[in-house]
Amino acid sequence: MMQARVSFDRELIKAVIDERLFGSFIEHLGRAIYGGVYEPGHPTSDKDGFRTDVLDLVRELRVPLIRYPGGNYVYAFNWEDSVGPADRRPRRLDLAWRSVEPNTVGLNEFARWSKKAGAELMIALNLGTRGIDAARNLVEYCNHPGGSYWSDLRRSHGVAEPHGFKVWCLGNEMDGPWQVGYKTADEYGRLAAEAGKAIKLFDPSLELVACGSSNTHMPTFPQWEATVLDHCYETVTYISLHDYFKNLKNDLPTFLGESVGMDNFIRTIISTADFVKAKKRSRKSINISFDEWNVWFHSRQADEVVEPWTVGPPLLEDVYTFEDALVVGCCLITLLRHADRVRIACLAQLVNTIAPIMTENKGPAWRQTIFYPFLHASLFGRGEVLETFIRCPSYENATHGEIPYLESIATFNRQAEEVTLFAVNRNAQEELVIEGKIAGFEGYKVREHLVLAHADPKAANTKENPANVTPRSIATTSIDKGMLKAVLPRLSWNVIRLGAAGKA
Ligand code: AHR
Repeated sequence: MMQARVSFDRELIKAVIDERLFGSFIEHLGRAIYGGVYEPGHPTSDKDGFRTDVLDLVRELRVPLIRYPGGNYVYAFNWEDSVGPADRRPRRLDLAWRSVEPNTVGLNEFARWSKKAGAELMIALNLGTRGIDAARNLVEYCNHPGGSYWSDLRRSHGVAEPHGFKVWCLGNEMDGPWQVGYKTADEYGRLAAEAGKAIKLFDPSLELVACGSSNTHMPTFPQWEATVLDHCYETVTYISLHDYFKNLKNDLPTFLGESVGMDNFIRTIISTADFVKAKKRSRKSINISFDEWNVWFHSRQADEVVEPWTVGPPLLEDVYTFEDALVVGCCLITLLRHADRVRIACLAQLVNTIAPIMTENKGPAWRQTIFYPFLHASLFGRGEVLETFIRCPSYENATHGEIPYLESIATFNRQAEEVTLFAVNRNAQEELVIEGKIAGFEGYKVREHLVLAHADPKAANTKENPANVTPRSIATTSIDKGMLKAVLPRLSWNVIRLGAAGKA
């Protein structure tokens, strides 16, 4: 049995968590929209054609922010196609995913859906095939109350109140040669600065996200960020990070260390942004929008044989395993650890396409394995992140270097008088006994210790067996004289909730 020490203190606050850390992403891709959120005629669909079984699952996750409409989809997105009378909207070929986009669900419909889901939208602008003009017109269409060409057009489309979208992405993965209209860092940095200028002239309170590297393997990483920020530092609020984690060689110890790579990525970009800050003698810090992250690799072969040019093809339909849920859990802990600088993060994506929620057309919706760590972090990871001191054994890994067996972070929700310790035991052979000195929480008791564990790392939830991997409670966790003691099963995601006595 392996041992670890974890300590934290009510007074040692690392950051106030921005709830947008539990954001997600929906792209016009595969069955995310058509057959996912939207399926008129489905037994659960409402009058707008939205599946209420899907809406219920999205609401269960308490997602505060959804990035939309792409992704790669935006590089050739003509936003004007997606508004106005639905029967007059053009069907377009979507080059990014080689699909047909009927534009049945457009901007205003999706905004209506997101209201029902309880989420704000973060809109990505097309800076690939379009540019400053289309971007500023879209912002005016969405956010101006009325009395101008574009805002009156929105009103004539039946949307009297402006949407008031607060956060805008200046393109998507503009360093990627797979984007039509991808750019060098200098070209993109200039464009982001000028598009940003136009948007800020309209409303200086809007928050803008500049595209960072598509991943750490890009040849231009991390010079890309330095150059881009050099151009647009004072205009933007965030630099974006994207990363997807894979287990292509079926090597679990390496796969479980993917969040160590994520952690390094975040640290590198914080240093890069702060370097530009110093160079510019600026008083402003650039924060991080980690607006695409997830495990993604299972569906790659299946995608190669999908028929092109159809509406809602089954693309990127990863069936997630229990080990994927552990990696997602480690990533959530990593994001929380950096909550002082990572203010926005989007699990990519939300429904059917590399998603925690799956649906069958005309059939049920169910929770994938990765649903659970995201759910727990979103429900219980609100409030403040506490400095969490950890001492534990680690293992050496050729890809990631030293990987600790324990990944953990404590959060404190003052209002609910609740502390939550999130913890992953990466050890596939042994339980991990953690002992923690927790200061300032006198009288706190263990409310619940939730565990996600399974004998088979490849276990998945499917339509036929949707509850194969589900959390359970364990009752052996205790606090005695300020010492927390818990046993984490081998390979497990743990949520240990402590609360003031007498409070629910
Ligand atoms: O989320 C799937 C795709 O991954 C997105 O469209 C793109 O931005 C990224 O490469």
